[in-house]
Amino acid sequence: MRLTLSVIKADVGSVGGHTKPSTRMMAAVEGEVAKAICNGLLIDGFICHTGDDIAIIMTHTRGEGSSEVHQFAWKAFLAATAVAKNSGLYGAGQDLLVDAPSGNVRGAGPGVAELSFEHSLSGSRPAESFMVFAADKCGPGAYNLPLYLTFADPMYCAGLMLPPMIKGFRFHVIDMDHTAGDSVIELDAPADGYHIAALLRDNERFGIDRIVSRTYDEVAVAVSAQRLHSIAGKYTGKDDPVAIVRNQGIFPAPEEIVSPFAKAHFVGGDARGSHVMPLMPVPLNTPVTGMYCLPIVSCAGFSIDKNGRFSESYTDFFDNPAWDEVRRRAQRKAIEMRSQGWSGAAMLPYSELEYGGFRDTVSALLKRFRLRGERKPEAAE
Ligand code: 13P
Ligand code: 13P
Ligand code: MG
Ligand code: MG
Ligand code: MG
Ligand code: MG
Repeated sequence: MRLTLSVIKADVGSVGGHTKPSTRMMAAVEGEVAKAICNGLLIDGFICHTGDDIAIIMTHTRGEGSSEVHQFAWKAFLAATAVAKNSGLYGAGQDLLVDAPSGNVRGAGPGVAELSFEHSLSGSRPAESFMVFAADKCGPGAYNLPLYLTFADPMYCAGLMLPPMIKGFRFHVIDMDHTAGDSVIELDAPADGYHIAALLRDNERFGIDRIVSRTYDEVAVAVSAQRLHSIAGKYTGKDDPVAIVRNQGIFPAPEEIVSPFAKAHFVGGDARGSHVMPLMPVPLNTPVTGMYCLPIVSCAGFSIDKNGRFSESYTDFFDNPAWDEVRRRAQRKAIEMRSQGWSGAAMLPYSELEYGGFRDTVSALLKRFRLRGERKPEAAE
């Protein structure tokens, strides 16, 4: 069967500030998912949250961009929004940026990552396993470096030297500044590795849209690379991207996929989406409560049975003492960066900040600049 994996996520309200959705909000989404499985829209569904973002992870046979599946997710988020409004929660309905999207919710606020494959549990995929990354308080370029290192650098993924992967992977890179539709370039690693890096280094503009095996023409990765500010025209919270990564066999192994996250690399995000701070790997359903507003990322692993259903349990990759060391490093890096406050590299460049209120503060000041020696208008009267 042609199986589609869809992850649709949104922030539709949170408790005590932008920390986490409430238990009743999660239950509302869970209830909608159960109904959708019961009425045959979905084969299976799983929900979790990372900080204040709820992710719905689904299998179905309706294909990518299915209006039924997208409308279902929108309705589920509306149900959680109603709970959030009733309870007076912060940011109720925050990521639902349009009134009622017709069909596909891509470009309406929620983050969407989807990929499809022939699910036969034979040939190049005798078993189907995948991971879902979900990040909070950061932009969609947050996965640029870790995914590049896994799919293009044998220093991080020795598996790239094996026959099924040695031809490399095709990166679909999206220009997130392009608002008149998705503008994508396809580049092959390893041949175009430096070209890929030249784009991906700019986390704020270019993002990985998908990664495809060059040997098997099978999609390995899909990322929700959309910018909320390109949709809203102003700051409405951070993008908080999700990514699906298939693993094992013809793809990298889980450890080769998570190991670049040991860097706790610096990304754009944190408080008011305006700082440059390290990305901390955390267990599923972690609220954002530390000092600062550290960008966080979770990773859930699943297997899929012959009917397209998820395994009865999941693996929480970052819920392991090995990651405590990385979390401590992330916190140390955060303290170092924040000791620099607002200065220079510690905050995002003006081009990013201009979507938020910082632009208004600076714009008001720009009007008051005068050429040296020019008389003040009030003095000229
Ligand atoms: P085991 O399945 O024997 O634990 O080994 C897994 C492996 O090859 C790690 O990549
Ligand atoms: P999100 O609501 O998108 O998580 O962003 C919150 C924020 O702006 C942090 O200050
Ligand atoms: Mg929020
Ligand atoms: Mg968020
Ligand atoms: Mg957000
Ligand atoms: Mg094994």
